[in-house]
Amino acid sequence: MVSALAENRVPADLIAVSVKDVGMRFGDVHAVRSASFDLPKGKFLTILGPSGSGKTTLLRMIAGFDAPTSGEIYISGQPVSAVPPHLRAIGMVFQKLALFPHMTAAENVAFPLKMRRHDARTIPAKVERYLELVRLGGYGSRRINELSGGQQQRVAIARALVFEPDLLLLDEPLAALDRKLREEMQLEFRRIQKELGVTTINVTHDQREALVVSDEVIVMDGGVIQQKAAPVGAYRSPANAFVANFIGVTNFIEGKVVSVSGPSVQVEAHGRTLSGVAVGDALAAGRPCSGAIRAEQIRIAASADTLSGLENRHGWHRHRCDLRGRAHRLRDQSPPASATR
Ligand SMILES: Nc1ncnc2c1ncn2[C@@H]1O[C@H](COP(=O)(O)OP(=O)(O)OP(=O)(O)O)[C@@H](O)[C@H]1O
Ligand SMILES: [Mg+2]
Repeated sequence: MVSALAENRVPADLIAVSVKDVGMRFGDVHAVRSASFDLPKGKFLTILGPSGSGKTTLLRMIAGFDAPTSGEIYISGQPVSAVPPHLRAIGMVFQKLALFPHMTAAENVAFPLKMRRHDARTIPAKVERYLELVRLGGYGSRRINELSGGQQQRVAIARALVFEPDLLLLDEPLAALDRKLREEMQLEFRRIQKELGVTTINVTHDQREALVVSDEVIVMDGGVIQQKAAPVGAYRSPANAFVANFIGVTNFIEGKVVSVSGPSVQVEAHGRTLSGVAVGDALAAGRPCSGAIRAEQIRIAASADTLSGLENRHGWHRHRCDLRGRAHRLRDQSPPASATR
C-alpha cells in the first residue's frame, strides 16, 4: 500500500489503548478479524463502517463486556483480558442511554461516584462541575423525563465523565437525535473531549461526523480494519476501493496498467493514458486496475487548453464518449473543512 501518511511512532507510555491481533467469533460468525491498532492518549478516534462490520463488537471488547477469542487488548500498557468492565476506568455512552428515569439529573451523575465510593462530601461539587461542563448547570434537580432528548444525552455524557475515566467509549450515542441537534452535540463532544483531554473512541455511521471531529478514523468492513488514518489521509489516500467508496463521493474508472514507477502509475483507460498514484503492491504492467477520482479533483472547462499545466487533460466530448455514457459523480461534495486542511 502506498499511503501519503506514514504512521508516526508514538512512545509506548503515551499509548492509551493498544489492540493486538484481536478477533471475535460468535459460532460461525467472524465478527472481528485480527484487529490491531494503537491509540495515543488524548486522541479522538472514530470507527466507521457499514452495519454488521464489527464496530460494536470491537468496542464491547475494549469495554470488557466480551472477551476476545484471540489477541489481547492493553489499556495504559496493561493487558486487560482478566479485568472486569467496572475496574477498567472507562466511561461509556451508548445509543440506549440507560439513565435512571426515577432519579434526577444530579443523582444520575452522582451514581458512578457513589459506586466507586468517593468521599460523599466531595460528590455534590463534582456533579455540579460536570453538569456545568455539559451546559446543564442548574438542571440537577430535574427528573430525566423532564429533560429533552439532547439534555438527557448530556446527562449521560456527564455521568460517563464524572469519575475521570482514562477512556471514553461512545457507541452511536447521537443516532436517535435529529440532524441539527446531532451536529451541535458532535461539536459539544469534541469541545468537552479537548477540554478534559480524555482519550475517546467513537462509533458512528455518520462519515461527516467522523471527518469533522476525529483525530483519527478506522474504517471497518467484514470485521476487518480496512484503514486507520487521520481523516484527511483516509479521504485523500484511501487504502483500497472500499474506503474510497465508503468515504465521500468517488468515481471509479476501470483500466489496464501501462507502467509503474515507484508510487506513480500509468493506466490505459477507455483509449486514453491517465497517470495516478499507486495503492497496493499488486500493480504490474498489463494487469487490470481501478482508478478512484474524487469529484472535487475534476476540473471542467470549455476547452482543454484552459486547463494547461494539468495532468490527465482530456477533451470533454470525447471524454464523455469514452466513458460510454456512464454517469459520473460530479456533484459538489467537498470534504468537511477539517478534511481539506
Ligand atoms: N452476540 C452475538 N451473537 C452472534 N452474532 C453476533 C453477536 N453480536 C454481533 N454479532 C454479529 O457480529 C457481526 C458484527 O456485529 P456488530 O454489532 O459488531 O456490528 P456493527 O458494525 O456494530 O453494526 P451496526 O452498525 O449495525 O451497529 C454481525 O454479523 C452480527 O450479526
Ligand atoms: Mg453497532
